[in-house]
Amino acid sequence: MGSKALSLALFCVLFASYIYKPIPGNIEERWKVMSLDAIFKTCTFMGMCFENIGIMTYEDFISMIFKLDYTQPLSDENVTVTDTAFTDIPVRVYLPKRKSETPRRAVIYIHGGAYCFGSFKQTAFDFLNRWTANKLDAVVVGVDYRLAPQHRFPAQFEDSIAAVKFFLQDKILTKYGVDPTRICISGDSSGGRLAAAVTQKIEEITVVAALRLSNYSLI
Ligand SMILES: *[C@@H]1O[C@H](CO)[C@@H](O)[C@H](O)[C@H]1NC(C)=O
Ligand SMILES: *[C@@H]1O[C@H](CO)[C@@H](O)[C@H](O)[C@H]1NC(C)=O
Repeated sequence: MGSKALSLALFCVLFASYIYKPIPGNIEERWKVMSLDAIFKTCTFMGMCFENIGIMTYEDFISMIFKLDYTQPLSDENVTVTDTAFTDIPVRVYLPKRKSETPRRAVIYIHGGAYCFGSFKQTAFDFLNRWTANKLDAVVVGVDYRLAPQHRFPAQFEDSIAAVKFFLQDKILTKYGVDPTRICISGDSSGGRLAAAVTQKIEEITVVAALRLSNYSLI
């Protein structure tokens, strides 16, 4: 209890000292930007303190903070949301509820987090994937991969490609009602790099195996 109170006090002091950083005047939602910046700096500083004192590693602390933000797979009026696994890679699938005469487009989304943090379960990614599924009337797949430093690179790439290859099987595309010629792979930050690498690898496989995968588009 004492350590929790101490951590909270440290958080408040640091947050207060970081919050009033001047930012350019033409930025929208100033308080949101300032709060996020202050929270980020506060957590980074606390993580480094805890590691130096020997309480926990920086990565464990930041992961703990990220996990506070994880969401459940909740369906809404437009999209059915399910957590499942492609081979043994955890994924969250967003299926639009409205009827479609033709097979749908699909978007595979690989989250960022410096290969060390994060999940498709985070509020921001869950919101983005849900929004994309509804807005584009597309099947969206959020992919999780094993995280560093426990799992060194290229485990993150191997997991991403395994999930994508699993999804590209005819029987799986049929199951989710996806048009095989209209699939995109996307991501942010380290996930963007994984998306680029996976796409190149898929193209390589395609050339070698002369499969009809060659016309998957990248946006
Ligand atoms: C469902 O879709 C409609 C139309 O795009 C939108 O106005 C509404 O906010 C969506 N509902 C949710 C829960 O996102
Ligand atoms: C890919 O698309 C292009 C343009 O639509 C077409 O000319 C080409 O034949 C397609 N390639 C394959 C392998 O389907």
